[in-house]
Amino acid sequence: MQSQATYNYKVVRQFAVMTVVWGIVGMLVGVIVAAQLVWPELNFAEWFHFGRLRPLHTNAVIFAFGGCALFATSYYVVQRTNHTTLFAPKLASFTFWGWQLVILLAAITLPLGYTTAKEYAELEWPIDILITIVWVSYAIVFFGTIAKRKTSHIYVANWFYGAFIIAVALLHLVNSAEVPVSLTKSYSAYAGVQDAMIQWWYGHNAVGFFLTAGFLGMMYYFVPKQADRPVYSYRLSVVHFWALIFTYMWAGPHHLHYTALPDWTQSVGMIFSLILLAPSWGGMINGIMTLSGAWHKLRTDPILKFLITSLSFYGMSTFEGPMMSVKTVNALSHYTDWTVGHVHSGALGWVAMVSIGSIYYLIPRMYGKTEMYSTKLITTHFWIATIGVVLYIASMWIAGVMQGLMWRATNADGTLTYSFVESVKASYPFWTIRLVGGVLFLGGMLLMFYNVVKTIAGQKAYSAPVVTPQAAHA
Ligand code: HEM
Ligand code: HEM
Repeated sequence: MQSQATYNYKVVRQFAVMTVVWGIVGMLVGVIVAAQLVWPELNFAEWFHFGRLRPLHTNAVIFAFGGCALFATSYYVVQRTNHTTLFAPKLASFTFWGWQLVILLAAITLPLGYTTAKEYAELEWPIDILITIVWVSYAIVFFGTIAKRKTSHIYVANWFYGAFIIAVALLHLVNSAEVPVSLTKSYSAYAGVQDAMIQWWYGHNAVGFFLTAGFLGMMYYFVPKQADRPVYSYRLSVVHFWALIFTYMWAGPHHLHYTALPDWTQSVGMIFSLILLAPSWGGMINGIMTLSGAWHKLRTDPILKFLITSLSFYGMSTFEGPMMSVKTVNALSHYTDWTVGHVHSGALGWVAMVSIGSIYYLIPRMYGKTEMYSTKLITTHFWIATIGVVLYIASMWIAGVMQGLMWRATNADGTLTYSFVESVKASYPFWTIRLVGGVLFLGGMLLMFYNVVKTIAGQKAYSAPVVTPQAAHA
């Protein structure tokens, strides 16, 4: 039996489409900064300089592209799994427009040079306040929907989304505590090494909760749906959840090895990072094993290819991360392109690919269809993107290890074997390969855009009727 009410797909649709748009913009800026490293002449204007565009890239891909994907999927999943419509639909609509305003303000202020200089938290205080208002509204809509659910049980994907929403609120409020001196300038409320520790407690948990927990929520819904199989182990998903959120919170100091931070704090960060391998891999295995009995689908279904490949990259980057947190390894990798390679195996391989797979699932359903305009184009997108990521991360690994070794090489008399400039010169071929990888990944996003436009052209916006739990189990 189905009730008359329909799910609120409008806000899901808006965020889903903007995910593709901001993905293209953010990755285009990524390609531009990658090109600037190959051709420094491209730094032709103050507002177009690498130092201004790099934070624009990180903000655009993480908060605009990743953020819209998280809003879209969480609003969809919370309604479908709880068999109810969104709580406070007007507030949900406000989160869409509010978040777009945050992105627009970031796109204006960062190239103009207004920044707090805190990585991934560069936006100045008036924008921070707007972010807080939007985020509290998001929490009200999300948890309000869970409160009015029609099921006794809360599906695990919602736990991950919920943890992401609560943790990001906490991180943002603590790390953005600042003293404004004018409309466009503020100083951090913390000083010295405390400031650094707060910043990297924030930075690492931004990885753990913004770039991981929410996307694991996506995994727990879209992988079983697309594979048409139940999640491999529900028990493992519960252990995965608690172990992951507990462990992430302590690993931040691995960003501050060999700094003024007390040595024991660095060791705590290292140990928790090593422990983090276990819940990360538990989650990855749970996602991949969901395909048990349905492996053949991988051959023909490019959406599943995106989802499962994203999990392989997740496994890779969460193996690499604990390794890089070991102090002796970090002594080599820190400050080098190895870190940038690690970042993008997580960011492109995991975050972007799981989002792309989920958005391909969502878009046709937002218009009353079951399939995208062209499955062939999705397959092409998958291969271009995969080759792009591999070129990106392999070149950065080689460049990174090379840079680390060149910087520490000494002659018999104790002088340095290489000057810094020599290591920069030696890096050019690898930066060029990274640029090619980035162009391929961006090319894939443009194909996606075309496919999305063709899928929705001439179609009417659609909202599915709410399915009662009894009907769902019938
Ligand atoms: C076409 C795709 C992309 C290209 C070409 C690209 C390129 C770049 C470049 C050139 C840098 C600066 C590296 C440096 O300072 O040496 C960078 C940094 C960064 N990018 Fe990307 N990027 C892409 C996609 C993404 C995506 C999708 C994400 C996140 C979801 C992301 C997250 C980051 C982060 C977090 C950093 C800062 C890394 C650090 O500080 O170590 N990028 N990217
Ligand atoms: C078990 C999981 C992980 C651990 C223990 C870990 C550990 C590390 C370590 C040790 C660094 C280098 C710090 C430095 O030398 O400065 C790092 C950097 C980074 N990682 Fe991970 N990582 C993990 C997973 C991930 C994933 C899945 C992503 C992305 C989705 C990611 C994104 C980043 C970013 C953005 C940075 C660069 C931060 C910066 O310096 O700007 N990490 N990580």
